[in-house]
Amino acid sequence: MEQRSVKVLQLSAQETAALRAGVNLIHKNVGNFIIYKDPTTPEDPYKACRNVCRHQRGLFVKDIEDAACNVVRCTKHNWKLDTSTMKYVNPPDSFTQELLFPEVDDEGRLTLVELNPPEPWERDPRPPQRIEPGEVKVTFFAHACMEVKLGDKTMFFDPWLTGPAFARGWWLQHEPPADWLERLSRADLIYISHEHSDHLSYPTLELLSKKNPNIPIYVGDTSVPVFCRLKQSGVKLNCINICKFGVWQDINADTRFMILMDGVHPEFDTCILIDYKGRSVARRSTEGFTGQQDSQLRMNWSNSLSHLFTSEEWKERFMANDRKNLLFHKKEVVREVNPKVYCPFAGFFLEAHPADKYILNNNPKNKPEQLAAFINRHLDSVMTWTPKPGSTVDLALALGDPADRRLAIVDPPPETKLYKDTWDFDFYIDKINESIDNEIFAYPDWIPFYYEWIGFKNYDLVLRMIETDDYFQPVEGGYDFLVDFMDLSFPSQRPTRKHAYLEIKNRIGVHRQTVLHGLFWDDLYLGFQNRLSRDPDTFHFKFWNHVQILLSLQPPDWEGFLSRQRRLHSASGKLPRAVWKPPRSKPTVNRLLGVLVQAKALLVPATMALLAILAYNVL
Ligand code: FES
Repeated sequence: MEQRSVKVLQLSAQETAALRAGVNLIHKNVGNFIIYKDPTTPEDPYKACRNVCRHQRGLFVKDIEDAACNVVRCTKHNWKLDTSTMKYVNPPDSFTQELLFPEVDDEGRLTLVELNPPEPWERDPRPPQRIEPGEVKVTFFAHACMEVKLGDKTMFFDPWLTGPAFARGWWLQHEPPADWLERLSRADLIYISHEHSDHLSYPTLELLSKKNPNIPIYVGDTSVPVFCRLKQSGVKLNCINICKFGVWQDINADTRFMILMDGVHPEFDTCILIDYKGRSVARRSTEGFTGQQDSQLRMNWSNSLSHLFTSEEWKERFMANDRKNLLFHKKEVVREVNPKVYCPFAGFFLEAHPADKYILNNNPKNKPEQLAAFINRHLDSVMTWTPKPGSTVDLALALGDPADRRLAIVDPPPETKLYKDTWDFDFYIDKINESIDNEIFAYPDWIPFYYEWIGFKNYDLVLRMIETDDYFQPVEGGYDFLVDFMDLSFPSQRPTRKHAYLEIKNRIGVHRQTVLHGLFWDDLYLGFQNRLSRDPDTFHFKFWNHVQILLSLQPPDWEGFLSRQRRLHSASGKLPRAVWKPPRSKPTVNRLLGVLVQAKALLVPATMALLAILAYNVL
């Protein structure tokens, strides 16, 4: 049966606000629930489950003997559940309660979501067989890209191996193995977790498609399709397989995998579980992994908020705390999953372009070595692997005698170039900037046309969009306009009513590319291609959710727009507005600046967010 997400409870904003710190027992006609609230982790305060005992479906009540008030007691046979961990303390070291996923919307309502079935991999289990050294090997390539050898089959994950991600915001930190394209094009299959460009890299796939357009690619059946922009990209890939969640896909007698819905972003993100001879390799997605043991795996980007705050000192403190919390959180995640090997990945990128020096210097991330040391200090049964491009881990050795486990990891030869020191900035940025002088921008009516297409309204938010140069200074000839989402109007002044206000300065090239191609706003938001200010300081989830995942998959009909505008202008005799043209890039200067940026980057060594887990576990 396919895995689906189902909303099982929604509390009103008042009910949500009334939840107390610690245990809350909720009785509703849709069922009984336990919600544990931890106000010390405001970014992720809730844990929730159904109020049903795992033993014989008894009902839990508060345990008056528990001084900390975290434990509930089953009224049937006195089993006890610690709701702060969702683990049973009686019987000790036994079970974990199946979790529900909490989601709070912008109006403050808490919804609990259930993944159904919660543990699809438990159907049709296979006993673990012995595997020999060399039989299963994982090789790190770059960022989130791994090659997994499973007997005589080879699989790749998330190949971002060339070009930038998030428009021009992220660049690869590592130099992938020199033969990456050969190896990628010879793979038996590729899994792509989601459509973010650090996982689904069209520049990489374009090169791949020229060598092997028929390579089988597997993605999950997300509501935002992973390949929703394939046609627009012009890349020819002929064998894309969309898999139902939680259904085994057999590769051969030894190997099968299932794609699972992400617990945090089920609309667009996924993770994968591979079963090779009854042993599993789990590759969680960027932000979450679903499943009973792993259901609390959450990640917070420590690197995406830096431009929201005005005080440098406050920002620095906030980010330092955020990084510290992230370390603790990841250690807890690893404790829960209890893998044999833990490998952080999907955080190996740099804001390498010279114009992003501010972000590069002011957005330090946890180092993978730091996390490894932290985990090793607390969890001595877990082997950590800080991957270098071309380094491998051998599953049989990792699962074998603990004394030999370190032999499982083989690093590339010492002379291997590990870090990039040049990027082809001009090639990619010139491509982005081709959108700037598109004819649509000669007609200011593109603004209402585009925002009608966006389709977001009846929301008290006034947006000011300002087009800027690379350094966020307004450009002459760039647009600067207001959108009032209350009635989808475009006033010349901010309305006099009290309203929420969001000002976004966008690099003109990225902004126009986003508009022209009807792209999600991830490229604007995640790739540091804008600077935001807001009053009051409220994150408008509903707005950002809309522009990041709910836009139409059909781009705006600019052809129709242009023919109408041309007709109107010629009838009225009104000349279209002159379109600003960017100066062409200066390749040599940019290349030199790139080298200087990298030199600085290496002084702040191995800066990276630690955003993923690779776990080897015996089922
Ligand atoms: S049903 Fe809960 S302890 Fe038996």
